[in-house]
Formats: sequence, C-alpha cells, structure tokens
Amino acid sequence: METLKVHHNYSLQSLTTFQVPVIAAQFMEVNNLAELISAIQYAGDQPILILGGGSNLLFTHDYSGIVIQLKSQGYSKEKFETSSNLWKVTADAGMNWDDLVERTISEGLGGLENLSLIPGTVGASPIQNIGAYGVELKDTLLSVQVLNRKDFTIHSLSVEDCKFGYRDSIFKNSEKNKWVILSVTFLLSQADSSYSVNTGYGNIQSALTNKNILNPTSKDIRDIVCEIRRSKLPDPQLIGNAGSFFKNPEVSEEIKNELIHQWPDLPVYPTANNNYKLAAGWLIEKAGWKGKWHGNARVHELQALVLTNPGKATGKEIYALALSIQNDIRNKFGVKLEMEVNIL
Ligand code: FAD
Ligand code: EPU
Repeated sequence: METLKVHHNYSLQSLTTFQVPVIAAQFMEVNNLAELISAIQYAGDQPILILGGGSNLLFTHDYSGIVIQLKSQGYSKEKFETSSNLWKVTADAGMNWDDLVERTISEGLGGLENLSLIPGTVGASPIQNIGAYGVELKDTLLSVQVLNRKDFTIHSLSVEDCKFGYRDSIFKNSEKNKWVILSVTFLLSQADSSYSVNTGYGNIQSALTNKNILNPTSKDIRDIVCEIRRSKLPDPQLIGNAGSFFKNPEVSEEIKNELIHQWPDLPVYPTANNNYKLAAGWLIEKAGWKGKWHGNARVHELQALVLTNPGKATGKEIYALALSIQNDIRNKFGVKLEMEVNIL
C-alpha cells in the first residue's frame, strides 16, 4: 500500500461526464494488477466502485465507499492463425475506448469503426455491450479478462459467458460487482480488399453517397460516424450528459401494431426475436419533453433521449427528470422506459 495514494473526500465532478457535484469518501488510481489487488485489500468490507471514464454513471448522492480508477494502458496484437487475416488485439481496461478504435484503424485493422467516438474506457465497454451504427461490442469480442474481487483469481470469459444482449451483460446483472475487467481481446480483420465495412445503419449510406465514396474504408466509416455523432450528441466537455439515458424499448408485434395504429410515424425496428424496438427519443419528443427544463436539468434540444446538466444540475435533479419522463411515457404510450445509465 505504500505506493498507493488514497485521496479522502475527493470530488468526482470532473471525472464523470454528467459533471454533477459528488464527493467520494475515498479515491484511488491504480496502474497495474498488483496495485488493484492492494486497493481491494485495503477496502476490506467497504463498498467499492470501479470507475472508468464516468460516461455512463449518475451519482444522486455522495459515495461513502472507495472509488478505484484503473489507469492501465497496455495494448498488444498478434496474428490469430498464421495463415488467416485475423488479428487478436488486447487492450487494457484503462485505455480510452476511442483511442483504441483510432489505433486499430490506423494499424489497418477493421471491425471497430462503427463504434467510433463512444466515450469511456475499454474496461467498461463489455458492461453494457456498447453499440452504435449497427454494430455491438460482442460482434468482434473474443474474450474478457477479469479479476474475481473476492479471491483474486483471474479468468477469461468468452462471448457466451458474458451473455451479451442489447446494452446488457452478466456484468450488469447476475454477476454485478463480482469481477473487475482487466483487459478485453478482440478479433479484428486486416482491412484489405476482402474486408467489407458495415454501412447498413441509418444515414451512413447516404453520407457515403453524398461524399461520392464507392468503396469505403474503415477510416471513411469512422469519419462519417464521428460527423453524425457530433451533429446530434452534446459534447460532454461542454454540456454534461451520459449519452442515451434510456434504452430503446422492445415490444411485441401486437403492441407495436396498436401503437402504429395510433401513431403512424413512430419509428420501429424489427429485432432478431420477432419483437420490435421503438425509438425512445421519438416517444419522449412526442410527449413534449424535448428541450424542457426540470429545475437545473434539461432534456437535450437536439436529441430527446439525452438528459443534460447544462451547468448547475445535481444528480437528484437529473434523476427526478428521468422519473417524470418515465412516468409520462408510461401514461401516454403504455410503454416502460428502462434506464440505461447506472444510477448510484
Ligand atoms: P463508467 O461510466 O465509468 O462506468 C460504467 C459502469 O461500468 C459502472 O457500473 C462501473 O462501475 C463499471 N465499470 C467501469 N470499468 C469497469 C471495469 N474495468 N471493471 C468492472 N466494472 C467496470 N454507449 C453506447 O453503448 N453507445 C453509444 O453510442 C454511446 N454514446 C454515448 C455518447 C455520449 C456523449 C456519452 C456521454 C455516453 C455514450 N454512451 C454510449 C455511454 C458510455 O459511453 C458507455 O456506456 C461507456 O462504455 C462507459 O464507459 P466508462 O468508462 O465511462 O464507464
Ligand atoms: N428521434 C426523434 N426525436 C429525438 C431523437 C430521436 O424522433 O429527439 C428519432 C430519430 O428521428 C430516429 C430514431 O428516433 O428516427 C432513432 O434516433 P437515433 O438514430 O438518433 O438513435 P437513438 O435510437 O436515439 C441509439 C443508441 C445510441 C447510438 C445511436 C446510433 C440506444 C439507447 N441509443 O440512439 O447510443 O449512438 O442509436 O446507433 O440504443 C447510448 O447508448 O448512450 C447511445 C448514444
């Protein structure tokens, strides 16, 4: 423990993208496995929160336990099989997610481009199986290396072990707080002429057409995804937020038909299991919440699925706004919105 610095009554305001005022009783940064184990041992029976980039967390009160932030930055790659054009890339939990995406693309590897510009760390990426523009983390993930918080054994979990779903995994549910994610391994493709990028989602194809790009590279897709994201989502450096606050709700065909009957322009997307995903942003906008203030918290004026802290909001105010929206959507549409952001 001598080398580990423990900060007491430490402000997390600038360490979370909502940027609400919050104090952690204790805070530690760890750079490697040995330091992580020392920090967990030091915590003893006190609650522990592993903090990544703080981009999917809302604190509604001060944190009475110990916050541990992983800073490990390792990166390695090796050929998957000598003859194949697949590469195993492993990145440490503390690495910035978008730095990983940029690095793999600059090294000529394809697979992560649609997930460009998602804030946060590599270590948090499996927690909710991050997704965007038609791709989810699980599509290229090979394994997740984890530390058992109780007995300090290290395990490698496969995609099947992680039980990934839409914004979901064992790390959010049955095995919440059991593991610390140490590193994540991906299977990426050599982005040569045989590699085809995923252009199927939303306005990626129209953006390519506008730019006259016929054979898009991973870098082209990254540039377009970054452009679209910057035009819609608030930059957390300027306006506190955690991306989509709610998940897009999934309903049966019967309920989808009833809703479409009443709201013919409601966007719906078929899912693999014959259900339908509804656009939560549309429901929230239609219910009149877009741009609305609730105390010092506000629904983003360009994207109603994003709740914001324009400056002086507390976590309690943002949470109260979320509950009001949830209630209103249930009353108006009979649909339950599930929060995506982790509430503490
Ligand atoms: P944190 O917020 O720090 O932590 C999230 C959870 O993971 C917490 O429960 C934490 O305890 C746990 N955790 C973190 N690291 C570890 C670890 N090493 N081991 C165990 N547990 C850990 N998400 C998407 O899926 N798609 C998007 O398109 C998207 N867009 C966004 C846009 C904006 C502007 C913002 C602000 C957020 C967006 N998000 C999106 C949400 C967010 O970026 C992701 O959920 C991201 O993976 C969170 O990473 P983080 O490091 O900030 O995690
Ligand atoms: N919409 C509205 N009004 C709004 C917002 C959206 O009518 O205020 C409509 C749009 O017109 C569109 C539909 O809703 O028809 C979907 O909107 P968009 O393409 O912006 O995507 P989203 O469903 O709101 C999801 C993810 C994002 C991800 C994007 C791109 C969830 C909960 N959110 O947003 O992820 O980046 O698609 O793939 O699945 C996140 O998880 O934090 C996140 C930002």
